[in-house]
Amino acid sequence: KKVVLAYSGGLDTSAIIPWLKETYGCEVVAFCADVGQGEDDLKGIEEKAIASGASECHVVDLKDEFATNYIYPTLKTGAIYEGTYLLGTSMARPVIAKAQVEVARKVGADALAHGCTGKGNDQIRFEGCFAALAPDLEVIAPWREWSMRSREELLAYLSERNIPCSASLTKIYSRDANAWHISTEGGELEDPWNEPSDQVWTWTNSPEQAPDEAQKITLTLDKGEVVALDGQSLSPYEMIASLNELGATHGIGRVDIVENRLVGMKSRGCYETPGGTILLAALRAMEELVYDKRTRDWRETVGQQFAHLVYDGRWFTPLKDSLLAAATSLADDLSGDVVLKLYKGHVTAIQKRSPNSLYSEAFATFGEDDVYNQKHAEGFIRLYSLSSRIKAMKQK
Ligand code: ARG
Ligand code: SIN
Repeated sequence: KKVVLAYSGGLDTSAIIPWLKETYGCEVVAFCADVGQGEDDLKGIEEKAIASGASECHVVDLKDEFATNYIYPTLKTGAIYEGTYLLGTSMARPVIAKAQVEVARKVGADALAHGCTGKGNDQIRFEGCFAALAPDLEVIAPWREWSMRSREELLAYLSERNIPCSASLTKIYSRDANAWHISTEGGELEDPWNEPSDQVWTWTNSPEQAPDEAQKITLTLDKGEVVALDGQSLSPYEMIASLNELGATHGIGRVDIVENRLVGMKSRGCYETPGGTILLAALRAMEELVYDKRTRDWRETVGQQFAHLVYDGRWFTPLKDSLLAAATSLADDLSGDVVLKLYKGHVTAIQKRSPNSLYSEAFATFGEDDVYNQKHAEGFIRLYSLSSRIKAMKQK
């Protein structure tokens, strides 16, 4: 039997390799996705996997695919979970799961394994994707099977087997990093009455530390995709990486929330999404110019539906195709330029223009105009309020 494990090089997945071999008598192939989590995490990962007992280790660069086929489409839909969470972990699961299945096919594996706990969302996302892409492969979720519960036990398990591991006994937080965000959960954050300590934030400057000088940037949008920064064309991944740097410097994109997990419990999470927060601000600004009232409302419905879809791990479904088709059609007119000001934790759109703008100075002006006849409003209001008038007259 051959198992492909989604391996990160951390303590949990390091212990999973020998555990799978002992429990299932199988060969373990490590699969490591590069979704932009950073070089520190990936350095020496192959040797580490082999030292833990994997027969092979496949590191797959998914940065561009993640940015182009997962992040940008999700951005276009306007998806934000429960009003604040930009879905950084949720969006990464399908791109990782898909590549994992591809490795499994390549090496002829019979099973897939992951290191998610039985209490979280990630298990649902991975296994939901596995079900859609490889229903024939068995799924093994060690955290739901073994009896180990603490870091101490995992470290002891590894040292009994003389498997080297650089993980320390105390690791305070559970983190997940990629090109879009870093999430931090656990530790003192488990009490929502505790303010996040300074160690929580690993990426962005605090707004207090951010430069006193504001910075202005211009983003160019084409059909709902941000394609240029200050006139320079960038791929989705390059754009996200560049804006991450700017956003992190200016302390942009920190959120601290209590969210509803799909498994029912509430959890507290701190998220840093510097570039994403800037991208979202640019799109919102463009929508203000382009969408009429009802279209804007529909975009919000699509975005909200999409947020649930992504959070709940339903990427590879017909619903995703349908919602994305709606979002793509909605984004057809979202082209133009937005100037954003970055300053101490805030991103503000201060200038915007679009060839498709419905904004008309001639109509909106408080000064004199000769295009809008104010008398027309009278008949509109009488009919618009007709039902209220009839109801009131009946009550009299
Ligand atoms: N609560 C967030 C989500 O469900 C972040 C999960 C972080 N996952 C992790 N393995 N550390 O998307
Ligand atoms: C986990 O439990 O594996 C991480 C948190 C989550 O999936 O929500």
